Amino acid sequence: MLGSFWKQNKRVKYTGLVSLILVALSITGCSVKQPRQVAIASAHPLATQAGFEILQQGGNVYDAAVAVSAALAVVEPSGSGLGGGGFWLLHRESDNLDIMIDGREKAPLLAHKDMFLNTSGEVNKQLSLNGVLAAGIPGMPAGLVHLSEQYGKLSLAENLQPAIRYAEQGFPIDGRHQKLLSFRKNILKQHAETADIFLAQGQIPDKNSLLKQSDLAQTLKQLADKGKAGFYQGIIADKLVNAVQKGGGFWTLEDLLKYRIIERKPVTGHYKGIKITSAALPSSGGIVLLETLNILENIDLNAVDSITRKHLITEAMRRAYHDRALYLGDADFIEVPVERLINKQYAQGLSSTLRTDRTLPSRYLSGQTPEKQGGRNTTHFSIIDNQGNRVAATLSINFPFGAGLVAEGTGVLLNNEMDDFVSAKNSGNGYGLVGGEANAIAPEKRMLSSMTPTFLQDDERIAVLGTPGGSRIISMVLLATLDFAAGHSPESWVKVKRFHHQYIPDQILYEKQGLSAEEITGLRALGHQLKQSYNYGNMQAVQLDKANNSLSAASDHRGEGLASVQQIHE
Ligand code: GLY
Repeated sequence: MLGSFWKQNKRVKYTGLVSLILVALSITGCSVKQPRQVAIASAHPLATQAGFEILQQGGNVYDAAVAVSAALAVVEPSGSGLGGGGFWLLHRESDNLDIMIDGREKAPLLAHKDMFLNTSGEVNKQLSLNGVLAAGIPGMPAGLVHLSEQYGKLSLAENLQPAIRYAEQGFPIDGRHQKLLSFRKNILKQHAETADIFLAQGQIPDKNSLLKQSDLAQTLKQLADKGKAGFYQGIIADKLVNAVQKGGGFWTLEDLLKYRIIERKPVTGHYKGIKITSAALPSSGGIVLLETLNILENIDLNAVDSITRKHLITEAMRRAYHDRALYLGDADFIEVPVERLINKQYAQGLSSTLRTDRTLPSRYLSGQTPEKQGGRNTTHFSIIDNQGNRVAATLSINFPFGAGLVAEGTGVLLNNEMDDFVSAKNSGNGYGLVGGEANAIAPEKRMLSSMTPTFLQDDERIAVLGTPGGSRIISMVLLATLDFAAGHSPESWVKVKRFHHQYIPDQILYEKQGLSAEEITGLRALGHQLKQSYNYGNMQAVQLDKANNSLSAASDHRGEGLASVQQIHE
């Protein structure tokens, strides 16, 4: 009976019943070993299932993270992939280790600052977004190998098995995959091999039609057999470099050979008694999140009406995103005043510039021109077990389907993360984010990211969360953190109606029905520009309730993912 309870595959499951039984047994003096339970939330049901499959084979949460990452690379090719990169934030309970695996892409050795400028010095967006020049050197395969070898219990080959099976046998595509394909169809169509894999005679394939990726399965097998060398050297490396050079790109075999993941200390801070652990540079996520929260800590958001609350949150976002544009980039290449940016007194100073009766236009902070915003890319998953071991991973190939082409014979979609660099002052990237010298292109430099895999912890709860969404990732994680602070559950964090301000463009972007008519009028009266957006983000969140040792999980209803809590048989 309990077995079938656990096997249910509902979107959200709570383990309260079993926890209550355990508490009752312990009160009556029976000594019981806590069954091992794990919560996983990811953007695709098959990826969540891959994680549980590996756990049932004796894997730990880090093995499960390898399996989920690799599965997402196959079943959600729009969001991440072997041709991309990402950040895995880990916590290991046995030695209280918090670490971030930085598998971010880096610029090739032959890259240079002006590589996307035309002869008049203007940015050619086509080059930084579509095709081979847009692609940074991938970090995802190295990240999978490192995570598996350093933190897992099972072999890399075992952990990659579900992904290999999905690639070989195929899987039915869903509506979200179709929608993202239509967004990039015209680019995918330009490359015969890419179109052959993802389109049906140049058109969007029917819902539920099988997507098989036999070349990708072979590439995954090379990685499984040979580890890092299976991707960064030998036959796959040759094919990748050939494909990029054939298209006029800069990659060399040396670029691949030199790629290394970096273990970094996550950014940490506190907001009203909640410990926040989040992504370090080269992601701006943790710094901007903490800076915004530090500003807001000086304000009692519960004591103001909803218009003032949203206005003040917006003003805090504006200031933190402004600092992002001014200071942030790869700290291995430039000096970044991280300590100052996440300092409480610095935030106090900024908060004293917030007024409840009017906005501060971004042009008074400094003059940069507005650009468009995007934000449908990337993927995130969250895992936690009932001992508190956990992984928050945000992975990306940047825009949906990355640069829009597969390197011939590999099944690997190239990323377009080079667009996350700043190619010229006053020119926003694909998300409208502006920046300066700190995030200029340089050989082997990592482009600034907004990915924000995050842990939240107070006396009672531990949360693991994150989302895709380009520049809006940070504001989504911020709003979820404020919801966590209000005592709500994962199901509530992923449902929060979203609004966003990123300094430039100087406007509040809000989801349909995300602001009431009264809030819209009130925010306009304070001087804000407002723009309604499609619904965005795909948050995946899990939580451990320490008091009764129960897990819960939630997957954003805007996506088609699966959150589940299951008992692991030992
Ligand atoms: N490519 C999206 C990000 O890293 O922020």
